[in-house]
Parts: sequence; structure tokens; C-alpha cells
Amino acid sequence: MMSQSLHRLFLAILSVLLLTVTAASAAADSTLTRRSAIGGDQLRLVSPGDIFQLGLFSVANHTKWFLGIWFTVSPEAVIWVANRDRPLNASSSGILALSGRGDLVLLDAASNNETVWSSNSSAAASNNETVWSSNSSAAAVAQLGDNGNLMLADAAGAVLWQSFDHPTNTYVSEMRIGKDVETGAEWSLSSWRHDHDPSAGDFRYVMDTRGSPELHIWRKERKSKTYRTGPWNGVRFSGIPEMATYKGMFEFQFTDTADEVSYMYHASVGSPPSRVVLHESGVIQRMVWNSAALGWSIFWSGPRDECDKYGVCGAFGVCNEVDAVVCGCVRGFRPRSPAEWRMRNASGGCVRSTPLQCGGGFYGLRGVKLPETHGSSVDAGASLEECRRRCLANCSCTAYAASDIRGGDGGSGCIQWCGELVDTRFIDGGQDIFVRLAMSDLATMFDGIIRGKCPMYDFETIRAATGGFHPENEIGRGGFGIVYKGQMQDGQKIAVKKLSTNNRVQGMKEFKNDVDLIARLQHRNLVRLLGCCIHYSDRILVYEYMSNKSLDNFIFDLRRRATLSWKTRMDIILGVARGLLYLHQDSRHTMIHRDLKAANVLLNGEMVAKISDFGIAKLFSNIDDNQDSTVTERIVGTFGYMAPEYAMDGMVSFMQDVYSFGVLLLEIVSGRRNQRNFNLIAHAWKLFEENKSLKLLDPTVRDDCSHEELEQAATCIQVGLLCVQESPSQRPQMAVVIPMLSQQQVPRRPLRPVVCMPVSTRDDHLNRQEDTSSNFQMIITDLEGR
Ligand SMILES: *[C@@H]1O[C@H](CO)[C@@H](O)[C@H](O)[C@H]1NC(C)=O
Ligand SMILES: *[C@@H]1O[C@H](CO)[C@@H](O)[C@H](O)[C@H]1NC(C)=O
Ligand SMILES: *[C@@H]1O[C@H](CO)[C@@H](O)[C@H](O)[C@H]1NC(C)=O
Ligand SMILES: *[C@@H]1O[C@H](CO)[C@@H](O)[C@H](O)[C@H]1NC(C)=O
Ligand SMILES: *[C@@H]1O[C@H](CO)[C@@H](O)[C@H](O)[C@H]1NC(C)=O
Ligand SMILES: *[C@@H]1O[C@H](CO)[C@@H](O)[C@H](O)[C@H]1NC(C)=O
Ligand SMILES: *[C@@H]1O[C@H](CO)[C@@H](O)[C@H](O)[C@H]1NC(C)=O
Ligand SMILES: *[C@@H]1O[C@H](CO)[C@@H](O)[C@H](O)[C@H]1NC(C)=O
Ligand SMILES: *[C@@H]1O[C@H](CO)[C@@H](O)[C@H](O)[C@H]1NC(C)=O
Ligand SMILES: *[C@@H]1O[C@H](CO)[C@@H](O)[C@H](O)[C@H]1NC(C)=O
Repeated sequence: MMSQSLHRLFLAILSVLLLTVTAASAAADSTLTRRSAIGGDQLRLVSPGDIFQLGLFSVANHTKWFLGIWFTVSPEAVIWVANRDRPLNASSSGILALSGRGDLVLLDAASNNETVWSSNSSAAASNNETVWSSNSSAAAVAQLGDNGNLMLADAAGAVLWQSFDHPTNTYVSEMRIGKDVETGAEWSLSSWRHDHDPSAGDFRYVMDTRGSPELHIWRKERKSKTYRTGPWNGVRFSGIPEMATYKGMFEFQFTDTADEVSYMYHASVGSPPSRVVLHESGVIQRMVWNSAALGWSIFWSGPRDECDKYGVCGAFGVCNEVDAVVCGCVRGFRPRSPAEWRMRNASGGCVRSTPLQCGGGFYGLRGVKLPETHGSSVDAGASLEECRRRCLANCSCTAYAASDIRGGDGGSGCIQWCGELVDTRFIDGGQDIFVRLAMSDLATMFDGIIRGKCPMYDFETIRAATGGFHPENEIGRGGFGIVYKGQMQDGQKIAVKKLSTNNRVQGMKEFKNDVDLIARLQHRNLVRLLGCCIHYSDRILVYEYMSNKSLDNFIFDLRRRATLSWKTRMDIILGVARGLLYLHQDSRHTMIHRDLKAANVLLNGEMVAKISDFGIAKLFSNIDDNQDSTVTERIVGTFGYMAPEYAMDGMVSFMQDVYSFGVLLLEIVSGRRNQRNFNLIAHAWKLFEENKSLKLLDPTVRDDCSHEELEQAATCIQVGLLCVQESPSQRPQMAVVIPMLSQQQVPRRPLRPVVCMPVSTRDDHLNRQEDTSSNFQMIITDLEGR
């Protein structure tokens, strides 16, 4: 803390609110000025509301005295110092006066009234002698405001000079930090040398106007930058997300015009005293007066941590404070010097893994303090999409980001970097930057899963094929995202699944899963994946087009249901069964679908059924170890199709797909949905027990059925009931289901199936299972089915 004593002797005598210094009446004689000056022990000004005081203070055993302004509540909180480099030896010798030239001056009476400090306002207003003519009525007023500003105004009220234009180590509410672009004048902070020496120290806090403006801390002698706030993003500095938490207390104002680039804050009416100080150590701090504790609370400090140290991870490095080793490279880059990185010196930065030819794509780095914008170009008028296009078209563009985060859709405005990205860090509440990478590097980002398996499609091609993802081309929608119909230039029809980006982690995981699994599978009854596309936040899968959409559109629609003959239904049932059998045991990679339902069975132009949506499928690479069952980490699936042992205990087995198949089969036969208010299984079982199972058959086909077809339908229903047996061991394997359906094998008589529907948090049965189910997170993709 500052050791400091203040001169308070004549506080009682001087209750003046403002000091008026009358300028020379005759010639511009300094003596006249001195005559009307105040000095010595009387040297004290108090702002109208007694918020601030101006006077002489000492920080070194009463041997050095400075003219300064401080908070009345906290006299050691000096916000401004006049004579920081030339102290007075004694408080009694100080005289504050107005020179005939219009300068506010501090004179030293002990040294022949020598000027130890001058506002130099006449120099600033040089070449204009009229202001300070010998006109007897010309007068100047020096006044200390309640905002802490010492203002010198002429008789007409025009401000000739103000302390706010000459900050020392502190800024307060309404005080600018920045640059006058026209004159080159700067409003910047410079730290004290020591806590007992207010002369200019090592550090400066200045506005950098190259690229997108931001504030920097510089270490003077070394001419090195130590900290950046990150560029202003319309709301706050990119690297100070804390600013968003000051709502109601402070408002921030950023001016970026042809004349001026500056930043200031406004404290709301009634909020406590506050200040921002650049300390001797090079740390800048926002402090707010805590009247209860009679001390200053620290709201924010910069640099706050290792990652805030300028350029700690070098070019194309990214710092992450939560990692054990804070420095990493942007995806697609590797350390330039691995040996130095191993010794924890990452300042050499990173280099591209794959040299960039023109083209490529963008990798979205999310939640960062934007890198330094020197050499970047800024266009506040462009949209983010326009920004992407421009960057892609300009071979020297290495990254882009929104210059203003306000508004939806990731913000607006455009910053384009064309060289290295320096001083990027992850930070809570940070922004997104899109870094250009070679297409091949983008592809490897999927952990090599896609590599060589999923042909990469160009985003523009997909966009054109879907008419810009036009709503008219939308053919499906769900938790996973939106499916569009599209047509390639050669006329080929495609289905484009644009995965929802609002659930990024899960979306990515399921995207990978889907791609991984489906790329390995080739079967007539599985939807074929044609390719993939990565467009920063978007993950897109391109499938063969299924012109008759999903099965649920047919079987649950009264009118369209009638167009499905029994033969068509039987073909669909057998198709699904074959597709499932292939998944379970015929493919090289045995897997469980886990979300089989009518909405996930698609139909092509010939009404061939194909299973889709492998997003939550589970792959067993070594099926022998997992033959029976295994416990999964979270429950996924759709109400009505979920096997009870899975819904309650999270037991994963092939039999859960068999259960879903049984439900689906009964739905296809009956044209009715298994749902909360209609338990299809219980209904089917009741009819079956009463020897009236054919009553379940959809009336729209029943009358057209031949005798053989009716027999086939009865078998179907029996197989369906077998598939939904409560105990998984009572259910037939898919390998057995198919011969039974094709009447090559006689199904046994089913026992009473599951008739109470699983999966309801209010279900008593489930609550009793709480101990085992509490480890699982319930995720029901579609509660009522669709
Ligand atoms: C210094 O100024 C004061 C006030 O104007 C005056 O009284 C004093 O005589 C001056 N001293 C000298 C040495 O000029
Ligand atoms: C103040 O005086 C004491 C005792 O003379 C001395 O030890 C100390 O260094 C002085 N402090 C400053 C800031 O000069
Ligand atoms: C102030 O004190 C310093 C050091 O004691 C001395 O060198 C200087 O002459 C003094 N100045 C005045 C005006 O007395
Ligand atoms: C005022 O001008 C003089 C002479 O140009 C200079 O030495 C001094 O540092 C200036 N003072 C301030 C406070 O700018
Ligand atoms: C000089 O001062 C006069 C009166 O305040 C003002 O009208 C004029 O614009 C000034 N000229 C310059 C060059 O600053
Ligand atoms: C002095 O000021 C008064 C009022 O501002 C003005 O009317 C007068 O012309 C001025 N005289 C000179 C010599 O500038
Ligand atoms: C750290 O690495 C940089 C760049 O590779 C090098 O210039 C610097 O000397 C290294 N610093 C230390 C302390 O090894
Ligand atoms: C490409 O970007 C650089 C840097 O932003 C810019 O200087 C250059 O003019 C741009 N070139 C074109 C053709 O737009
Ligand atoms: C299925 O799609 C084909 C081709 O688009 C169409 O001709 C046929 O009518 C559709 N079938 C049904 C039942 O809608
Ligand atoms: C259903 O048929 C079986 C065998 O034909 C018979 O044993 C049973 O009694 C019948 N049940 C009903 C309710 O008619």
C-alpha cells in the first residue's frame, strides 16, 4: 500500500467549491496571476458533492509533495497527479495559479516561484492569442467536478484544459482512454514507478488502433507488449467477458470514428466509487469501493492468468488455462519446435500440418479471446456469411470472425486475418473464430473415422442442391436436425441431413457414430450414405434419396395407409427384418440399432424399406465379449419402442432391437401407434388370447386379403407378440424371426408380453429401480413417437 500522508490543515478554512482565478486585467503579467493564486496550506479544492478533492499529498515521509486528485472516501486512492516528475520539498511552498497565458501552473515558492508544473494549455491553444488577450473581462475558471475532472474553462465556458485529457495511472467513470486520430493525441495510462513514487513507471496502457481497436499493456523500456484486452466486439473487449457481468453498475462506450478511437465507462447513478488502475507491477485492475468494508473490491485484473500473457503460445498456438500444459496448437497445426515445447517454451508457436493451397475450409475455434488484429482488415458492414465468402476467395486470408457479436446468427461485421494468429486463448464467454485449414486436415478432425470412407462433399454443392436449404425442400425434422431433399447438377436426387448445431458435443458424437457405422454397412435394407460435408459449425450427411419418405407417414395416416396392400406391408416387414439381421450378425461389424421405429424406416420409389439413423447405434467390435448384455452410460431411444430391461436397467442387447421390431411389426399390421393412451401390445395380446388376433389387422387391407394372406397376418401377429416378451430370453433372435415370418418355421405360442409400458418417470416400477437407474441419464429422443 502507498505510504502517504495528506495535507489537511486548512480543510476547515477552505470550504470553497471552486477556485476562480481571474486573468490579468492589464498586461499579461504573471505577477497578477500569482496575486490571485492560492497556495501553501490553503491549497485544497473540493468537488461540489465532496466526491473528489484536489490538493497536495506526500508519499515519502513528507519529503516529496505532489498536487493530486483523490476520492474523498479514500484519500490514498489518487486518481491524478500533476507534478508527478517534480515533487515539492514542502507542502507550504506550493502555489496553484493561472498564468497570464492561460496556463494553470504549480509554482514553488521555496524556489523563486519556479513553475514545477504547467497545464500547458496555452501551448495547446498556441497561435490563438485572442483567448488570452489583455481584455479586462477575460477570465478563466478552474473547477473540480464530481466526476474527478479538473477543468479549466474560459469566460465563455469553453474548456481550455482538463485533467481527464491527461490521465496518469487511473481512469474513472467518464474518462476516455484512446486516441484522437486527427491530432495523434493519446489518452493512455502510465503506471507509477513505485508505490511511493508517482513518476511514470515501466508500464503503459494504450489504445492500439491497428486492425480492430483494443487496449494493450506495454512494458516501456523493453518495448514489449505484455497484455491485450482483445478487440472490442460491440459489447465488450473480446478477452474480458467479465464486462458482461457489470450490468446495472457500469455501461461501456466505445467510439470508433474517423476522428477518435476511445473507450470509457459510465457508472450508473448511485453506484459506488470505482476506478481502473494500472499498477506498478503492470497489472490493470478495476476496483469498486466497498463502503461496508471500507476498502476497494477488485472486480477484474488483467493479465489474469498464464494464458493472458501476451503471445505465450506463439503464432497459431491456443492457450487453455484448464489444461495441465496450457499451450496447444490450433487444430491442423503442430509445434514448430517440439523440443522447446517439451521444455514448456511454446513461444515459438505452431506450423501447419498440411500446407495450405488456396481453397480449403474453416475450422471453428469456439469461445476464445480473438487473436491480435494487426494486419487484419475490418469491415463492420459485412455479414458473417459475406465474411466467410470473402475469406475463402482471398488466398491470403487465414481466418475470419464477426467484428460485432450482437444480433443473432453469430454476429455481424467481418475481421479477416491474413497472417499468423497470435495470442489466442480459450476463455469462458469468448468468441468464435474460423481458421482456414486444408480440406484434408478438416477431414482428419473426425478422428480418422471419415477418412477414405465418407467422400467429402463441397458445401456449396450441397447448398445449391437444396436451394440454399430452402424450407420448401425440408422433408424431415427432429432432435438431430433437419433433412432436406436435394438434386445434384447431374440430376441425382439426394437427402441432406443437416445436424443440429445447438447441441454441439452430442451432435458431433452422433455424427461420427452415424458416419462410422453407416460407412461400414452396405445392405439393400439400410439407407446408403453417399458422402459427408463439414461446413464449420454444420455437419452434413448426404444419403440416397428415399422418395416415399418414412414409414410412419404411411402407416399412421388414414388415407395413405389404405394404399399399402398386405403384400407391400409384408415386404416392408421382411425388409426391416433383413436389415436388422444384417446389423446383428451378417455385417463384419455387429451392432445394435437402439432406435428402431417407424420414423427410422425409409421407403424408396419401389417401396423398399431401408433402416436409417444410426446416430445412437452401438457397435460391438468384439461381440464375443458382449454376447449377453452390457450396461450403457445413458438411456437413449423412443417411447413406445423401448425394451423394458433397457429402459429400466440400461441393459443393452440385440434383444432390445427385437423388442422394437415387434412393436413396429404390430404397428404395420394394425396401422395403429403404440402410445401412452393406447397400449398396442396389451390390445394385441387381448385379441390373441381371445383367438381373434386377426381383428388387429388394419381394416383397410383386411377385406382385400386372400386366405393365405390372412394366415400370414396371423403368423405375423404371433411373431410380433413373441418379440415383445417381457424377458429378453423369451424373444426370438432375428435369425429365427425371418424363417418364422416366411412360414418356414412355426412360431411357438407367446406368453403374456410386456403390457405395462416402460419409461415414464412417474412409473412406480421405475421408481423402485431408482438405485440402478440413477446412474443413467434418460434421453428420450421422441416421447410420443411421430
Ligand atoms: C511568489 O508568488 C506569491 C504569490 O503570488 C508572492 O506572494 C511571492 O512574493 C512570490 N515570490 C517571489 C519570490 O516572487
Ligand atoms: C521514510 O523514512 C524512514 C526512516 O527515516 C526510511 O527508513 C524510509 O525508507 C523512508 N521512506 C521513504 C519512502 O523514503
Ligand atoms: C528539494 O530537496 C532536494 C533534496 O533535498 C534539494 O536538492 C533541492 O534543492 C530542494 N529544492 C528546493 C527548491 O528547495
Ligand atoms: C509543458 O511544456 C514544457 C515545455 O514544452 C514541458 O517541458 C513540460 O513537460 C510540459 N508539461 C506538461 C504537463 O505537459
Ligand atoms: C481562436 O479563438 C477564437 C475565440 O475563442 C476562436 O473563435 C478561433 O476559432 C480560435 N482560432 C484557432 C485557430 O484556434
Ligand atoms: C473585451 O471583451 C468584451 C466582452 O467580451 C468585448 O466587448 C470587447 O470588445 C473586448 N475588448 C478587446 C480589446 O478585445
Ligand atoms: C523460447 O523459444 C523462442 C522461440 O523458439 C526462443 O527464441 C527463445 O529463446 C526460447 N526461450 C527460452 C527461455 O528458451
Ligand atoms: C486479401 O486479403 C488481404 C488481407 O486482408 C488484403 O490486403 C487483400 O487486399 C485481399 N485481396 C483481395 C483480392 O481481396
Ligand atoms: C413411391 O414413390 C414413387 C416414386 O416417387 C411413386 O411413383 C409412388 O407412387 C410412391 N408410392 C406411394 C405408395 O406413394
Ligand atoms: C382359442 O383356441 C384354442 C385352441 O384352438 C382353444 O384351446 C382356446 O380355448 C380358445 N380360446 C378362446 C378364448 O376361445
